[in-house]
Amino acid sequence: MTKQIAILGSTGSIGTNSLRVLEALGEDYQVYGMTAHNNVKLFAEQVRKFLPKVVGLTNPKKLDEFRGYLGDSDVEILCGADSLTEISGSADVDIVIGAIVGSAGLEAILKAAKAGKIIAIANKEPLVIAGELLMATAKENGAVILPVDSEHSAIFQSLHAGDSDEVNKIILTASGGPFRGASAETIAGATIAEALAHPTWNMGRKISIDSATMMNKALEIIEAKWLFDIEVDKIDVLVHPESIVHSMVEFVDGSVIAQLSGPDMCLPIQYALTYPKRVRGITRHLKLEEIGLLTFEKADMEIFKALKLGFEVGRVGGSAAAVFNAANEMAVEEFLAGNIKFVTIVDLIEHCLSKHNINKNLTLEELLAADAWARREVTECLKKSR
Ligand SMILES: NC(=O)c1ccc[n+]([C@@H]2O[C@H](COP(=O)([O-])OP(=O)(O)OC[C@H]3O[C@@H](n4cnc5c(N)ncnc54)[C@H](OP(=O)(O)O)[C@@H]3O)[C@@H](O)[C@H]2O)c1
Repeated sequence: MTKQIAILGSTGSIGTNSLRVLEALGEDYQVYGMTAHNNVKLFAEQVRKFLPKVVGLTNPKKLDEFRGYLGDSDVEILCGADSLTEISGSADVDIVIGAIVGSAGLEAILKAAKAGKIIAIANKEPLVIAGELLMATAKENGAVILPVDSEHSAIFQSLHAGDSDEVNKIILTASGGPFRGASAETIAGATIAEALAHPTWNMGRKISIDSATMMNKALEIIEAKWLFDIEVDKIDVLVHPESIVHSMVEFVDGSVIAQLSGPDMCLPIQYALTYPKRVRGITRHLKLEEIGLLTFEKADMEIFKALKLGFEVGRVGGSAAAVFNAANEMAVEEFLAGNIKFVTIVDLIEHCLSKHNINKNLTLEELLAADAWARREVTECLKKSR
């Protein structure tokens, strides 16, 4: 039977790759709904090409412009942030692709979990903020959460080689980002263009900055903790600049099982959509003889302080992760707007964590309050420093 797909954030890097994958998968998959925020020109082109039943435009200020680009169309248009939950919880949807960046995707992913959907999740921030709640909600309602993040897809695939009580540790690989091996002085003076210039992956702006600070890996540690129900102390990070080994699982007998492929998100997206089946796809197959050498090195937690913080936050849990994520979202926005230096991103995160009183076992409202507190704290801190 044809699977009906909802893509939350179809205009982004993961969203556009998801549409390429769906197009190649053919008639077994149909785009039922999709959402976008600002890029209404591309959104209108996508709607005309994929003919969804319903679309959500989360930024109402863009509605007239969107209608202008769209022209004549039968599509139902929902407008505002609520369109996300309406589409992700729709009874007609089988698979929800979470491709929004940041905490904006949280409530829609939770709604999909409550509605018992298959959730192909790239949007890691909801798992960081509310992993415990999200995984419990999914379990309670029969929803299935499948990782799209390449590292977590690799771990998910590698875990099939043994039982959960046979896992010794998870090894998350990291490209190291644009500042791998750079000195603290070089990193301190990094420009926006330098921080956005990722050596192996072509991604959205926020995750590119997160890769440069290694905050992305820090978020992924917490993401892995919830997705695979594993203690943070059983997670290692290993820098692997070629981005071919996407992560590994070490079992108790010493065997290490890894997943390898080129740096192309279409493969993990496709695997989440076709799981448990594998099908031919659009990803170019690896030619290891052309790559020759695969290298690995220890991550430098003194230079990349975000990584150290990620382990600490993952250990303490509770509201710390919501604060960690929100402070980062705010700080990255300020950096990309040219208002703060690159090094200030992690300084602001550290400041918020040091001032926050951690609470455990929180409701969604309490987690959102912790998120809001951290955003206010960043704003206050920047006001004082100006
Ligand atoms: N890119 C990758 O290769 C990659 C790999 C692994 C994991 N991820 C994760 O996947 C997620 C998406 O990353 P990305 O690189 O695809 O980001 P992106 O290119 O910046 O795309 C973000 C998407 O979210 C929409 N959006 C932005 N703000 C929104 C808001 N306030 N409300 C609703 N929608 C909003 C954007 O709409 P408009 O464009 O229309 O404004 C766009 O469709 C992130 O959580 C990231 O960590 C990405």
